Amino acid sequence: MTAMNIPKHVGIIMDGNGRWAQKKGAVRVYGHRFGTETVRTAISYASNAGIEYLTLFAFSTENWKRPQAEISAIMSLIAEYLDNETDEMDRNNVVLNFIGDLSMIPKDSLAAINRSVEQLRNNTGLKVNIALNYGGRDDITRSAKRIAEKVKHGELDINDITEKTLNDNLYLPVDCDLIIRTGAEKRISNFLTWQGAYAEIYFTDVLWPDFDDNEFENALRFYSERDRRYGGIKQ
Ligand code: FPP
Repeated sequence: MTAMNIPKHVGIIMDGNGRWAQKKGAVRVYGHRFGTETVRTAISYASNAGIEYLTLFAFSTENWKRPQAEISAIMSLIAEYLDNETDEMDRNNVVLNFIGDLSMIPKDSLAAINRSVEQLRNNTGLKVNIALNYGGRDDITRSAKRIAEKVKHGELDINDITEKTLNDNLYLPVDCDLIIRTGAEKRISNFLTWQGAYAEIYFTDVLWPDFDDNEFENALRFYSERDRRYGGIKQ
């Protein structure tokens, strides 16, 4: 790989599992299963590339509208993934964090999540955030509520509320530099709404189970060639 400007925080909307399976004449869940294999390779790639934060959109606040069998399968696959891959993530010095409202996540999956997060807590390498029952608007609303509580209890003066206050009360107070969306749709779907305000956005037709190291490199190359000005002008 030639020298590239590596983004600090990459977010990925992992879309296209269902279509990938349907194209093969298989049930949608088959695509999600292959999707977990891509999660494994993407984490390994990001770790080697020197990315600091990798945020993966696994389940949105809107995904509860799917058939119950598909929801249960995704939750089980996440637990299975964590049970199988946590030791490998540990060897790669990965820290794991979940963003989203976990109060609605099934008990077994939650137990697997807690075990993995705990095992990887003291690592110092790539920070992997899994967005689960996550929505960008929900993230901002939750931040506003946390701030309102602080004002109510006299811990914060209303005049001291700034963008930084909103930011610091999010699930993940880290600007996102690059958002990748697989699966051909060109929208952000309520992912990292605040954190991605200035993100470069890379859309690819490749379906998530087919997103390999080469595709990841294409996305990083796209980012590296951007000229980020944050509303300013070129010097
Ligand atoms: C989008 O494809 C994918 C999802 C809603 C689920 C993503 C979940 C995984 C990859 C599995 C587990 C994740 C981890 C972190 C281990 P889609 O079903 O919307 O596909 P479609 O647009 O083709 O229907």
